Amino acid sequence: MTNKELIRVQNYKKSFGDKTVHRGVSFSLYKGECLGLIGGSGSGKSVILRSLIGLEKPDEGEIIFQSQNIAALPENDLLEVRKKIAYVFQGGALFDSLSVYENLAYPLREHTKLAENEIAQKITSLLAEFGLQGNEHVMPAELSGGMQKRVGLARAIIMNPDVVLYDEPTAGLDPYNTIRIQEMILELKKKGVTSILVTHDMPTATAVCDRMALLVKGKIVFEGNLTEIKNDEDDPVFRFVNGKEVSK
Ligand SMILES: Nc1ncnc2c1ncn2[C@@H]1O[C@H](COP(=O)(O)OP(=O)(O)O)[C@@H](O)[C@H]1O
Ligand SMILES: [Mg+2]
Repeated sequence: MTNKELIRVQNYKKSFGDKTVHRGVSFSLYKGECLGLIGGSGSGKSVILRSLIGLEKPDEGEIIFQSQNIAALPENDLLEVRKKIAYVFQGGALFDSLSVYENLAYPLREHTKLAENEIAQKITSLLAEFGLQGNEHVMPAELSGGMQKRVGLARAIIMNPDVVLYDEPTAGLDPYNTIRIQEMILELKKKGVTSILVTHDMPTATAVCDRMALLVKGKIVFEGNLTEIKNDEDDPVFRFVNGKEVSK
């Protein structure tokens, strides 16, 4: 990890109707790190991730990536951003009517000029890398939830993004698939992929994240290294991690 800032979220504010979700969220994502974005259900974690690829707009505030404010970019420029920043949806979001192979081939056919044999090579090596070989012709519905998520993650990174946003990638998974997902995240980190992991799964966050940002009532109340989390009943991160109510 270097301390080069890759993304800066600055004073992000967002309401839906009369419900205020974010009251001025600010944090940085540094090149090469995995940042754990944690917070209770409904605290707005997914809204932040969606905003990083322009699927949601803040009412106020900026998201700076490569000297551009993502929050103000037109749709055309967002398509370019989405090639560099991949969002792994909560459910994996595979196309039900396409086989695993066709799901993985889709972004390559859509966004690259690779020949079919090059596409086949890329898919074979990616599946092998993540222990998914032999599933090329399987339909998503025939896969377990854990396998669907692993294939979804493979599809999200097939375009070699600089940044991967994981939205609760281990939610509802058994320990076996949880560990496989952790390994995928660590493998990508080794290759220099920068990431944000939104999760409630503290063992996974501890295993893969370099730093944590804790979202409480529309603000980041802690941003820092896991080793800084003290055994302190008044510390919001300690409280959150240990299942106690976080009031401030
Ligand atoms: N498109 C939307 N319209 C209305 N409310 C929304 C929308 N998206 C999110 N919200 C609300 O914003 C809050 C934060 O949502 P979300 O980011 O999904 O939370 P989290 O991912 O932390 O569980 C929730 O109360 C949710 O109901
Ligand atoms: Mg969410």
